[in-house]
Amino acid sequence: MKLTDRPEWKALQAHYHTIEPVHLRDLFATDPDRGRTFTAEGSGIYLDYSKNRVTAETMTLLYRLAEAVGLRGRIASMLRGDKFNNTENRSVLHTALRLPPGSKLEVDGVDVVAEVHAVLDSMSAFAESLRSGTRKGATGRKISNVINIGIGGSDLGPHLCYDALRHYSDRSMTFRYVSNVDGTDIAEALRASDPAETLFIVASKTFTTQETMANARTARAWLVQALGEAAVSDHFVAVSTNAAEVSKFGIDTANMFGFWDWVGGRYSVDSAIGLSLMIAIGPDHFREFLAGFHDMDRHFESAPWECNLPVLLGLLGIWYDNFFGAQSVAILPYDQYLNLFPAYLQQLDMESNGKSVTRDGHRVDYQTGPIVWGQPGTNGQHAFYQLIHQGTKLIPCDFIGFSKSLNPLGRHHDLLMSNFFAQTEALAFGKSPEELRDEKCPEPLIPHRTFTGNRPTNSLLIELLTPRTLGSLIALYEHKVFTQGVIWDVNSFDQWGVELGKVLANRIVPELESATEPSLEHDSSTNTLIERYRRQRSK
Ligand code: F6P
Repeated sequence: MKLTDRPEWKALQAHYHTIEPVHLRDLFATDPDRGRTFTAEGSGIYLDYSKNRVTAETMTLLYRLAEAVGLRGRIASMLRGDKFNNTENRSVLHTALRLPPGSKLEVDGVDVVAEVHAVLDSMSAFAESLRSGTRKGATGRKISNVINIGIGGSDLGPHLCYDALRHYSDRSMTFRYVSNVDGTDIAEALRASDPAETLFIVASKTFTTQETMANARTARAWLVQALGEAAVSDHFVAVSTNAAEVSKFGIDTANMFGFWDWVGGRYSVDSAIGLSLMIAIGPDHFREFLAGFHDMDRHFESAPWECNLPVLLGLLGIWYDNFFGAQSVAILPYDQYLNLFPAYLQQLDMESNGKSVTRDGHRVDYQTGPIVWGQPGTNGQHAFYQLIHQGTKLIPCDFIGFSKSLNPLGRHHDLLMSNFFAQTEALAFGKSPEELRDEKCPEPLIPHRTFTGNRPTNSLLIELLTPRTLGSLIALYEHKVFTQGVIWDVNSFDQWGVELGKVLANRIVPELESATEPSLEHDSSTNTLIERYRRQRSK
């Protein structure tokens, strides 16, 4: 049945009209215990969702919607390896990457857990040999500089997690991430590197991605120029599902760490794509990281809806996206180590649920995935929070904070967290004209200084940023995205929307490189831009 025809959907539409005029101030006034009851906890993550524009009835109606679309069954279907990615006829099994040793999961007659652990073991041996210095570069020097070359999921996951877990990393080593085909990215990384001490990890599921291959070729030429062709095998490894392309590129497949087509790029950080992270933090921490994902997988699979963190976040997102008409969601980590978390979630969420047809190809008549954006607090407070507090748009926000700092310096952490608590309070309750008058605010300024409040937030509070809690946090958002994809009935695991641009760019490359004036057959805008570019470039 079409989502918008479901009685559970219509019930939420009717209910919206009763909730829309209600202020969070009233909800807290009528239920003073709300800040304790509208909470849930799992895998070390405490979620307070009381500052959302919902009542117990709203939540019940949302749970009914989850039931109506068969969410429980769909979770089980994904976890057991059904071909959930229907447009590519693939299983979706990133959850198998974190199954503990000794578990069993067969897909098409193959025990995937055994395969996963075999790769983890070889990654571990490799990581240890680099960390201990037993594996050296071609000139006998210790490898102290690792450059991961990849893009999208082959970059954002390891880059985010390396940054996030830097506290746990080997500080005698340097880790760099090169993704952009803009030559500046690789040029700056190479400028800062000594070839004799540098290892390149070429990370690409397909090993055909234009940006990654261009950067890898430049890196290879740089290395060969300094150390000779024979040095390549000591300084290059590949992470891919495509052994044929790896060896065509000139990397011995003995130096390749594999994964499988059932791991989507944006869900791949806990596959061999995480190799740079494992080298940085060591295999034991990496296994802790995987255990954190697994904790959240179990929670998602078994917790009742009312205490199921990914389901709660997913349903609250649906509530704002589809009933309040919100266009975006802001991700606001109060931890500098999570600097890249908003960018990581942009790919995870927007590449997954940025779809406008259902799984069987019908155009949807409702909004799907939101625009995801954000920055670490408190920097965002001095940039865009103004719009969240007083602008005309409703922007639901996720605040993510930690009770303990990994860098407990004087008052810093309490200052940081005072902002974390203050912002959600201000967004929910605002400041009324009456309160301003009591404070003797001049009358002409009252409209400017009024905060309407009633702006929804989730607070996620975690004790400490560790490999394990980071794993759980990422898995929480993976499953939130899954929950929403199931409700919207979209395939969250393909990404056809990135294809057209790639094809057109490949057609344009020869037109830019041509020594003679190419005859351009694009539209008049594209033709004129290309002509101007060619003229200016050759001046
Ligand atoms: O942008 C499309 C995409 O396919 C992403 O889904 C993926 O993470 C990225 O490109 C990189 O792909 P690959 O790992 O195959 O180089």
